[in-house]
Parts: sequence; structure tokens; C-alpha cells
Amino acid sequence: MADYDYDVLVIGAGPGGYVAAIRAAQLGLRTACAESRETLGGTCLNVGCIPSKALLHASELFEEAAHGHMAKWGITGQFNIDIPTMQKGRVEAVEGLTKGIEFLFKKNKVTWLKGLAKFTGADTVDVAGQAVRAKNIVIATGSSVTPLPGVTVDQERIVDSTGALELGEVPSHLVVIGGGVIGLELGSVWRRLGAQVTVVEYLDQILPGMDEEIRKESNKIFKKQGFAYKLGTKVTGVQRNGDAVTVTVEPAKGGAAETIEASHVLVSIGRRPNTGGLGLEAAGLQLNAKGQIETDHSFRTSVPGVWAIGDVIPGPMLAHKAEDEGIAVAENIAGLTGIVNHNIIPSVVYTTPEIAGVGLTEEQARAGGEIKVGKFPMMANSRAKTNGEPDGLVKVIADAKTDRVLGVWMINNLAGTMIAQAAQAMEFGATSEDIAYTCHAHPTHAEAFKEAAMAVQGKPIHI
Ligand code: FAD
Ligand code: NAI
Repeated sequence: MADYDYDVLVIGAGPGGYVAAIRAAQLGLRTACAESRETLGGTCLNVGCIPSKALLHASELFEEAAHGHMAKWGITGQFNIDIPTMQKGRVEAVEGLTKGIEFLFKKNKVTWLKGLAKFTGADTVDVAGQAVRAKNIVIATGSSVTPLPGVTVDQERIVDSTGALELGEVPSHLVVIGGGVIGLELGSVWRRLGAQVTVVEYLDQILPGMDEEIRKESNKIFKKQGFAYKLGTKVTGVQRNGDAVTVTVEPAKGGAAETIEASHVLVSIGRRPNTGGLGLEAAGLQLNAKGQIETDHSFRTSVPGVWAIGDVIPGPMLAHKAEDEGIAVAENIAGLTGIVNHNIIPSVVYTTPEIAGVGLTEEQARAGGEIKVGKFPMMANSRAKTNGEPDGLVKVIADAKTDRVLGVWMINNLAGTMIAQAAQAMEFGATSEDIAYTCHAHPTHAEAFKEAAMAVQGKPIHI
């Protein structure tokens, strides 16, 4: 039966879905995108990447000015933070970008179907009471906050990431449950603005999944900045009493319980795929044990004509991974060859300094065979030292026999930008020698990457 309403219907307009829809339309396919939010852009633009970076930027400016970091350059004065104005800046940043996606939809002739989408068959979806039939359906419904059993988020004193972005006052004591990316980024925002921050982490180190040395080094740097930690600790209860919150914790391995008094609590223990209410059974789709939708490398699910991308499928829950999958799935639907190299997906924590990595950790690489590791401290990088940013390092991990770069990890103020160079080098199959003999502009933080690669070769200049 050929009377489809659309060639492609994308469910969800996050970075995965909106990119897939635009690319499909660019490729000449009749495309619609169903989104239940009032604005496009998904978690990332509305309550994730963008608003968090707005607050990270504002709070960094404040800390630099108010905490005397600029005094050595003669910049002094009285600096105040007006939280409502800062929050207005965040809202404006989000509005500008979500409207931008709306403009791109119009420009590319993508139809936005407003409302919640639910499968009624393998090629039919109900969107707010309207039946839509599409030849291809892309599930890009993203993820939402994992709740902590027994803890009720009220978005006032006990908040998740969305509530933590919208606070109208600086907490006196913020307890962060979960020492992952959200806990450290949003913990940094409120610490810089004056909050005491305590991170309670179940594991014995922060930032799971990252290179072990980078995790330990980050921990030291955050401690120096004033973060307090309770590692290897689990939360067993969170009780709000008026404007105060009592957090009960105990050692993860068992032992005596203790309480922490807080003004606010942020629950940031991970995110889980959005699949509830999608009517997946009507499409004939099943979830894996983690509640994700499995696909092949082309992003095809087990049901012909149904595809899935982004946070709802396995892999890191990152906007750029979702975007690349969005492009690839549209190209595959159009009969082209869309590929995402899941071995080379950079990850960045946007704290100060930034923490970034791509490829294998040293532990993973060592388990796979013989390796060489080169490191370069930012303290020995002329630009970082001049700017007063000595914390951190760059680490290059290469195969001992072939010299091919297997992983790059770094902590420094520009790591989020610098990691793109590492990803590109790895995508092109670079050796550490290739990087060591590539001319890098001076004076730049990026020279630390070159010197770390020279260290793999055993001959850095500046250490
Ligand atoms: P989403 O962005 O979650 O979008 C899915 C969309 O689908 C949503 O808008 C939802 O309303 C819609 N939807 C769901 N079900 C339906 C339905 N049945 N019908 C219609 N619409 C539906 N990642 C980074 O790479 N960098 C960062 O700096 C970063 N910062 C973050 C900060 C925070 C605080 C958070 C929470 C996340 C952050 N992330 C970051 C993660 C990033 O936001 C996600 O990885 C990314 O948004 C996933 O994109 P997606 O398209 O798969 O899904
Ligand atoms: P996360 O997975 O990064 O960290 C969660 C942490 O909570 C882990 O360290 C885990 O061990 C800990 N934890 C789990 N249960 C716990 C418990 N009961 N008590 C104490 N600790 C517990 O998840 P997070 O920070 O919530 O972020 C969710 C996702 O959002 C991330 O996976 C990331 O992909 C994405 N994100 C990405 C950002 C970026 O790219 N800069 C920024 C923010 C979010």
C-alpha cells in the first residue's frame, strides 16, 4: 500500500530527531517530526547541554571576577551576582536556539506534528489523536532522569537536573547524589556562586567510565576548588523538613549510617531511555534488559521500516552521538551509507578545567595488548601557565607495535575544544608520531597534545 502520509516520521525533536528530520528532508524525503514539548530541541536545548552551559559560563565569569582570580592582572572591584538576571540569560539562550530549530524545520520543509506520538501499528502512529502513516519511522525519544527509589523530587529543595538549572537562589549547602557529569557540572555552577557542595558517590571514584588517572586527577582538582566528597557511599534516605533537607547515607559496603544536613539536594544518578507510552508492542518492538531499543549498525530495529537513534539506543547518552546517528539514519533511509564510528565518540565534562577523552582508557588499552603512554602537564605549557591555568594534563595512549593512537585524555581549560583534534586524528588512523610531527601554533594549549604525543616517542621538549 503506497499511500503514506510521509516517507519519514521522526518521533522526538532532540539533537537526534531534529537532525534526522532535517537531513531526511534535505535528501528529498517527505518528512514530519512529532514532538510533545512546546519547543523543539529536546533535552539538550531545553533542559540539558545549552542551559547548563549558560549557567557554567555565567558562574565562571562571576567566580573569576569576584574571587580575585583577575586581581593579578589589576582587575579588581565589587562584583555581585543577581540570580534572576542570570536565569533570564539562560532562558534567552534556550529560546534563541529552540526557535532556530523551528526556523530550520520551516526552511527545510519538515512538518512539526505537535503532540505525543504512540505506535498503533508498525507503520502507523497516533499523534495527539491524528493517525499518521509513514514508510519509515525513526524513534528518537531520548531519555529522562533516573529516579532514586524512595526519594521524591519536588523541584524546590530536592531537585533533578532540570530543577537545579532553575533554582532562584544560591543553596547554602547542596548535596549532590551521584558524582557523574551532571553532578560535577551543576555542582560547579552553584559552588562558584557560593554554595557549599558535597558529592555523595556510590563508587569509590567520581566520573565512571573515564580514564582512571583522569578521574583521580579531576577529584584532586575539584577538592582544591572546595568540593567535599563522600565516595563509596550510598544514600538511604532524603527527608525534607521545611527549608532543610536531611540526607541519610551509609558506606556502600555496609556500616554505620550518618546524616548530612543540606539546604538543597540534587539527584543525578543517571538517565534512562524514554519508551513508556510509545506503544512499542503495537509496532512489534521489544526492549533489551536495560530498557533500550536495539538496532544494527544502520540503526534498523528488528521491525522493518522502524529505526532508532540517540539516548533511546545503547551507547553514551550524548548529544553529538545522537546528532551523528540522526544524519546516518536519514542517509540509510535514503539508500545511502550512513555510518557512525562508535569507537571514536568524544566525551567532555564542561567544568573548569574541562575534562575530555576519546577512545580507550589506559586500563582498556592495556587489557587489549602492549601500549605506550605519553603525558604532558599543563603546568609546562606556556600559554596555560601564562593564563594562570596550570591544572591538568594531556595523555596520549598508543599501540606499542603500530604506534596508532588508541585513546586521548585531557584535563585543561580548553579540553572540550582540543579533544576534537584528537578525535579527528584517530578517525584518520594517526600514529603518535604523526601528531608529534604536526606543526601546532604557539603559544596554544593544543601544544600540550603535540608534546604528549612526543612523550609517547620518548622525546618531549618542555619537560
Ligand atoms: P532528547 O534530547 O531527550 O529528545 C527527545 C525528545 O523526544 C524530547 O524532546 C521529548 O519530549 C520527545 N519525545 C519523547 N517521547 C515522545 C513521544 N512519544 N512523542 C513525541 N515526542 C516525544 N550531552 C552532550 O553531548 N553535551 C552536554 O553538554 C550535555 N549536557 C547535558 C546536561 C544535562 C543537564 C542533561 C540532562 C543532559 C546533557 N547532555 C549533554 C545529554 C544530552 O542532552 C542527550 O544525550 C541528548 O539530548 C539526547 O538526544 P536525543 O535526541 O536522543 O533525545
Ligand atoms: P552519570 O552516569 O554520569 O553519573 C551518575 C553517577 O551516580 C555515577 O557516578 C553513579 O555511580 C552514581 N550513582 C548511581 N546511583 C547512585 C546512588 N544510589 N547513590 C550515589 N551515587 C549513585 O549520570 P548523570 O550525571 O546523571 O548524567 C546523565 C547523563 O547525561 C550522562 O550519562 C551523560 O551522558 C549526560 N550528560 C552529559 C554531559 C556532557 O556531555 N557534558 C553533561 C550532563 C549530562
